[in-house]
Amino acid sequence: MNIAVIGSGGREHSICFKLKQSKHINKIFCIPGNAGTNKVAENINIDILDFKNISNFLKNNNIKVVFVGPEIPLVNGIKDYLEKKSFFVFGPSKAASRLEKSKSFTKKLCKKYKIPTAQYKSFSSMKGVRDYIKNMNTPIVIKADGLASGKGVYICNNKNIAFKKCKEINEGKFKSSRKFVIEEFLSGEEASYFILSDGKNYKFFGTAQDHKRIGEGDTGPNTGGMGAYSPSNIITNKVEEKIKKEIIEPTLKGLKILGCPFVGILYAGLIIKDNQPKLIEYNIRLGDPECQVLMMRLKTDLLKIIIACKKKQINKLAIKWSNKKAITIVASSKGYPSKQSKVSEIKNTNKILLNNNQYLFHASTFNKNNRIFTSGGRVLNATAVNKNLRSGRNTCIDMLKKINWKDKYFRKDIGWRVINS
Ligand code: AMP
Ligand code: GLY
Repeated sequence: MNIAVIGSGGREHSICFKLKQSKHINKIFCIPGNAGTNKVAENINIDILDFKNISNFLKNNNIKVVFVGPEIPLVNGIKDYLEKKSFFVFGPSKAASRLEKSKSFTKKLCKKYKIPTAQYKSFSSMKGVRDYIKNMNTPIVIKADGLASGKGVYICNNKNIAFKKCKEINEGKFKSSRKFVIEEFLSGEEASYFILSDGKNYKFFGTAQDHKRIGEGDTGPNTGGMGAYSPSNIITNKVEEKIKKEIIEPTLKGLKILGCPFVGILYAGLIIKDNQPKLIEYNIRLGDPECQVLMMRLKTDLLKIIIACKKKQINKLAIKWSNKKAITIVASSKGYPSKQSKVSEIKNTNKILLNNNQYLFHASTFNKNNRIFTSGGRVLNATAVNKNLRSGRNTCIDMLKKINWKDKYFRKDIGWRVINS
């Protein structure tokens, strides 16, 4: 069978890497891919929002199944578009994607089904903002309502700053929306919980913890994620029961009632305190870099999982995970996430040993004249699976040290909470 993977990050490279292990795969295409996916798939240079061209390509290459990595094509309705033409898209419909697209949609659902989450209020103008903020405790969380690539959330220690951030969003800082949400700050530890749904049933699809801040010790601005490990050790059986009963199941039920059952991977971003999980946000896709660690631990054939989902038979499939721990360290260009960096060459990637226990996933890299370059952002993910997280982390650090690239930056403390305890 042929399959297409949409996206060009470390997440999509790890998906291609995992699919490549399937005996049932004939050919993998990655649209548009990067310098790493090029080794396990064929890169196809089509814009991920050009659904018409994607559809023509699928038809001409006998591809029936599409795995969509990032949220933007899903939110824009790639599933609705391609499924009208009889392709199967592993991912949710436009209507179900509102869980990630619109914070107010999700908050309304939470209210209706009593899903534990932060107290909040949605605003579309500045009317009443001052009064609302006046009665809150600090820190105050301000969120842009639309998609903002992880950059639309502000944790404000001061009420004037909170007001200023609301104003900035309302004046159009983010193209996606002028609406915003003012939210209570939740203290506790963050973890990511994933499930897979075929629209009828759902299955657990792993846990992970992400390090969102740029600096060591979890300091500095938020990023898309500078490293992750799996599994999360704060999701105990007791906490997991609560996540399923109080958060996942009412959400899936609510979407069914709205006529948009969820198909694909649902990622719940949670804060856990005193064994009580609360929902921070939903993503309608795998996380990046959480996907990289999950793919290293997944033992079941990923293609089989996708096909079971297509047939609405995931209840018949056992999804197996390695008991080992996986860790990934993201190398970004110096200056990320604030400064735009220049194109620079990355050397020595061919000196890294690649196997099923350690792998270098590429993110924003590209090939030119048989050499590898990046134009910045998050660039590489050194990933390892090991019985011991500290040894895994050392493997990742050794991999990244071998890379010769002048703009290289990475955190050496990924997993610090569990490794040092
Ligand atoms: P989001 O884009 O909603 O995932 O938010 C990005 C990050 O901001 C989260 O991963 C949290 O670290 C933090 N965050 C968001 N909402 C809250 C909240 N209500 N309380 C505490 N931290 C939050
Ligand atoms: N690593 C966070 C995300 O993928 O949203």
